[in-house]
Amino acid sequence: MFQDIHSYSEPGKVRVRHIELDLEVLFERKVLRGSATLSVERSLRDGNVTLTLDTRDLSIERVEVSDGGRFRPSRFELGAQDKILGAPLRIPLPSGVEKVRVHYETSPQASGLQWLEPAQTAGRKHPFLFTQSQAIHARSWVPLQDSPAVRFTYEARVRTPTHLRALMSAENDPAAPRSGDYRFRMPQPIPSYLMALAVGDLEFRALGKRSGVYAEPPVVAAAAREFEDTERMIEAIEELYGPYLWGRFDILVLPPSFPFGGMENPRLTFATPTILAGDKSLISLVSHELAHSWSGNLVTNATWSDFWLNEGFTTYIESRIQERLYGRERAEMEAMLGKQALEKDLKEFPPSDQILHINLAGRDPDDAVTEVPYVKGMLFLRTLEEAYGRERFDAFLRGYFQQFAFQSITTGRFIQYLRANLLDKDPAAAARIPVEEWIYQPGLPAGAAEPRSDAFVKVARQAEAWHAGASASSLDTAKWTTQEWLHFLRYFEERPLSATRMAELDARFRLTSTRNAEIAAQWLLLAVRYQYRPADARLEEFLTGVGRRKFLKPLYAELLKTPQGAARARAIFSKARPGYHPITAATVAAMLEKGDSKP
Ligand code: BES
Ligand code: ZN
Repeated sequence: MFQDIHSYSEPGKVRVRHIELDLEVLFERKVLRGSATLSVERSLRDGNVTLTLDTRDLSIERVEVSDGGRFRPSRFELGAQDKILGAPLRIPLPSGVEKVRVHYETSPQASGLQWLEPAQTAGRKHPFLFTQSQAIHARSWVPLQDSPAVRFTYEARVRTPTHLRALMSAENDPAAPRSGDYRFRMPQPIPSYLMALAVGDLEFRALGKRSGVYAEPPVVAAAAREFEDTERMIEAIEELYGPYLWGRFDILVLPPSFPFGGMENPRLTFATPTILAGDKSLISLVSHELAHSWSGNLVTNATWSDFWLNEGFTTYIESRIQERLYGRERAEMEAMLGKQALEKDLKEFPPSDQILHINLAGRDPDDAVTEVPYVKGMLFLRTLEEAYGRERFDAFLRGYFQQFAFQSITTGRFIQYLRANLLDKDPAAAARIPVEEWIYQPGLPAGAAEPRSDAFVKVARQAEAWHAGASASSLDTAKWTTQEWLHFLRYFEERPLSATRMAELDARFRLTSTRNAEIAAQWLLLAVRYQYRPADARLEEFLTGVGRRKFLKPLYAELLKTPQGAARARAIFSKARPGYHPITAATVAAMLEKGDSKP
């Protein structure tokens, strides 16, 4: 057995197999209130055990237990609160006890919940609530064994104000009437970090026979257009790695404060509205979250040190889907952008943070979300693919998903499987791949796969010519995709531009007013770095309007590099903070405190 250092639970002794939630959503008080009934299974027959659950900022009202019949009151003990882990809830389970019911209420500050005022939504009329459980925030809204090594099925009854709709990472009925009383059932066992709930003024549009999109009324039409390829994406992965096992694949578009790009909640991916570019150019996020239906949701990292098994595999599969649907050139450009981001991280991070199997002792697993598990992990798999050929590697991955479906695995177990099912079958090819170095050492090993893009070579040539003094009108950008624009703008991260030359680009290409969030974030980074003042208002609008951490961190970090910038960062943060998700607010607050200029 392995130890999950981010959970107080002891699944080796007793495991939660099923959860029944009964929750009321109280917008006025910003709390969830109700009960969680956990069905438990002991590893040793009968015997008294203690069930230890993870909690954070929950107020526990009372606990009951049952041998199968009526519930009776039980003792319980809430341990001391740890800053990262929260507080253990200990419940003695006399032999025979099969179910435990915890009556509780969440705190308005719950780290996994964001309560939005109507003004923070697209429709501006109704409040909105959403959860974000990964990595260890499920414990802030449900008392449970909050470890990715524990899987359970669940059902839920959720009561909301009648005009709002509740959705969960479970069976959702798009035709359900808005009754304010909703029931859900999740028949496949999932780890706690995939528990999810959202409540708001949400409409549905079908995309295909098993896919659709939920969004607020002003957004839903644009979202349906942007995501029209979803069914083809599902079919593309199924052809490669086997059937989609979760029934429906729906996407929920959240308000802009959603702290991530996307979250692979099973049957209901959560997505930021910042990918709605109007031209499907940022749709790789859907490929990514969909890919998690295999890598992550089916085969799950056993601990957060194994996070690269989720994200590296997913980034690899994302790229394969992008290639199938939009061509090799697009996939390569996206892989190059990923590799550039990885190289930036590798320059900045200490060696210990450049390792796939990362040591997280004493750390919050949210801190380990860097390009390393994503892009270094992806490059590792690409390197294996190139060494063994696509056909063999695809068959290997198909077998891997089958072998470990609905299980949680460690890096060690993966290596063992890799050796037995791929490496040992062709030792000559294996000799060229330093597996241990890939997984346990910092940096990128020699012989790593290299994404290549001719289109980017051409973009770089143009960037170079313009930087050397050519006029902006000589730039031939008519056919550039979002990815080419990003490559172009990144070229200047290390090649300074005067404010006058920034103005020249802006006059010709209207970059300050672009509605493409990726391009805007990249442009605003240059604007801060090269003190291009005409973008000031847009920067403030962006930092207050968007809560996606990936965009906010580099921009705040850039501001923090100068004293005037730091003062602006503080002023903007104090305005923006009420609109940020608790996770984002904590990240930015920590950066400002440290005066951190690292992204
Ligand atoms: N599972 C992650 C998001 C996540 C990771 C949340 C760790 C909390 C802790 C999700 O699949 C993801 O990777 N999202 C990316 C988008 C993706 C296209 C790289 C993001 O949010 O930027
Ligand atoms: Zn992911």
